[in-house]
Amino acid sequence: MIKTIIAAKSDNNVIGKDNDLVWHMPADLKFFKNKTRGKLVIMGRKTFASIGNKPLPGRPTIIITRNPTFEANGCWVVDDIGKAFAIAAAEGQEEVYILGGAQIYEKTIGLADKMFITEIKSTFDGDAFFPEIDANKWLEVAREEFEPDEKNKYPYAFVEYRRRG
Ligand SMILES: NC(=O)c1ccc[n+]([C@@H]2O[C@H](COP(=O)([O-])OP(=O)(O)OC[C@H]3O[C@@H](n4cnc5c(N)ncnc54)[C@H](OP(=O)(O)O)[C@@H]3O)[C@@H](O)[C@H]2O)c1
Repeated sequence: MIKTIIAAKSDNNVIGKDNDLVWHMPADLKFFKNKTRGKLVIMGRKTFASIGNKPLPGRPTIIITRNPTFEANGCWVVDDIGKAFAIAAAEGQEEVYILGGAQIYEKTIGLADKMFITEIKSTFDGDAFFPEIDANKWLEVAREEFEPDEKNKYPYAFVEYRRRG
C-alpha cells in the first residue's frame, strides 16, 4: 500500500495558524480534492477539528488521537499511526493519503512513499510547520509552477516527491 502525504506549505514551511489555514488558494483546494477524492485519508485530531469535526465528503477517514473516549460519526479512531495504516490495508486500499497536520506529518514523513506538496511562494506567520524535506531521502519527480491570478494571490507550485531507494 502506497502511503502518500499531501500538504500545502509556505517558503518558511508554515502550514497553519490557530488551527486553521493562513491563505486562501482555491487552486490548491481543487488540487487537494482531485487527488483525495474517493481515497481513504488519515488525519490528526486537531486537523479533524479544523475541518469542522466531520469527515470530508466521499473520503473514508481515520482520526489519530490519544483520547480513548474520542468518537466521530462514521470515522475510525485510533491511537497510533501504525493502526491507521493497518486499517487502510485491511480495507484493501492501494494508496492511503496522510492529510496532516504538523504532528502527523512529523510522525509519517519517515514512513511515507510519496508526497504531493503545494508550495505557496510567500512567507507567513504560523504555529504549525511542515518538516524539512531531506533531498537525500526524497526525489522531486514532477513540478508545475503557476503565477498568481485573480483568485490565487500567491505564486504556487504543485510538486511531487518519491522516496529514494
Ligand atoms: N497546509 C496544509 O496542508 C495543512 C494540512 C493539515 C493541517 N494543517 C494545519 O495544521 C494545523 C494542525 O496541526 P497540529 O500539528 O496542531 O495537529 P494534528 O497533527 O492535526 O493533530 C494533533 C493531534 O493528533 C493526535 N496525535 C498526534 N500524535 C499522536 C500519536 N503519536 N499517537 C496518538 N495521537 C497522536 C493528538 O490528538 P489528541 O490531542 O486528541 O490526543 C494531537 O493533539 C492546523 O493549523 C491546520 O490548519 C495544514
